[in-house]
Amino acid sequence: MSDQPASDTTDVTAQPNVARMYDYFLGGSHNFAVDRAAAQRVLEIFPETGAAAQTNRHFLRRAVRFAAERGVRQFLDIGAGLPTQGTVHEVVRAVAPDSRVVYVDYDEVAVAYARELLVDVPGTAVVRGDLRRPDDLLDHPAVRGTLDLDRPVAVLLLAVLHFVSDDDDPWDAVARLRDATVPGSHLALSHLTLDGIPPELAERGKAIYRNSSAPLVPRTHAETLRFFAGYDLVDPGLVETTQWRPDTEPDLVDSHGYAGVGVRR
Ligand SMILES: C[S@@+](CC[C@H](N)C(=O)[O-])C[C@H]1O[C@@H](n2cnc3c(N)ncnc32)[C@H](O)[C@@H]1O
Repeated sequence: MSDQPASDTTDVTAQPNVARMYDYFLGGSHNFAVDRAAAQRVLEIFPETGAAAQTNRHFLRRAVRFAAERGVRQFLDIGAGLPTQGTVHEVVRAVAPDSRVVYVDYDEVAVAYARELLVDVPGTAVVRGDLRRPDDLLDHPAVRGTLDLDRPVAVLLLAVLHFVSDDDDPWDAVARLRDATVPGSHLALSHLTLDGIPPELAERGKAIYRNSSAPLVPRTHAETLRFFAGYDLVDPGLVETTQWRPDTEPDLVDSHGYAGVGVRR
């Protein structure tokens, strides 16, 4: 990706962006110099971040396959980021080719790229929306036009809630999404934690994100578990990401994350 601004009005290269930093951690090319510099500073503190991002993607694939195998045919991926290889529609379509997938992100670069990539993929839609405004997101014509909210939906919140501060009440946002879906819907969630990390290192990591497009808000197990209110967690519950139903994909590093899947009551 060149370092040219995406529009005349917004210089998207001026500030590190969490979507593009994540793309860099995953080895992608959709990032700018400012993103790479911030990501490198993270890697100096947490050298395993690239492998942790891969671990998170593995969980995404396992969770999505799990929901598809249980009969879910509709997926709402919020904070979807740049659609990299092994993304939701590719995984679910291997199980159920008729599935529908809506990708949501608030980042204009991620959305523009996703639209370019998915323009010819039937049954998918790309929406620019903000998790902190769930009602607007749910009312978006492309969401309403692609998903039938009277049938089960798997809501995917992978590595996104830790970019929403407590002041924005992410628990309420998740509850609103839950209330908009019918029983039998799924919630798949992964969330960064710095439980067990020396406070000085955690603080240095958070400081890097303070200058980026979103703050970094690691949460404890108990805080993360609260997102599942109204859902029955499937086995093995909310666990360190590599521990959630490991399959044949190679086992990667501890992701500094918790992951779980719940079924709406
Ligand atoms: C670390 S990436 C995770 C991408 C993907 N979900 C995954 O797990 O591989 C986080 C993504 O969440 C998006 N994001 C952060 N806050 C958001 C919000 N309030 N609403 C929508 N998207 C958000 C970022 O733009 C970024 O693309």
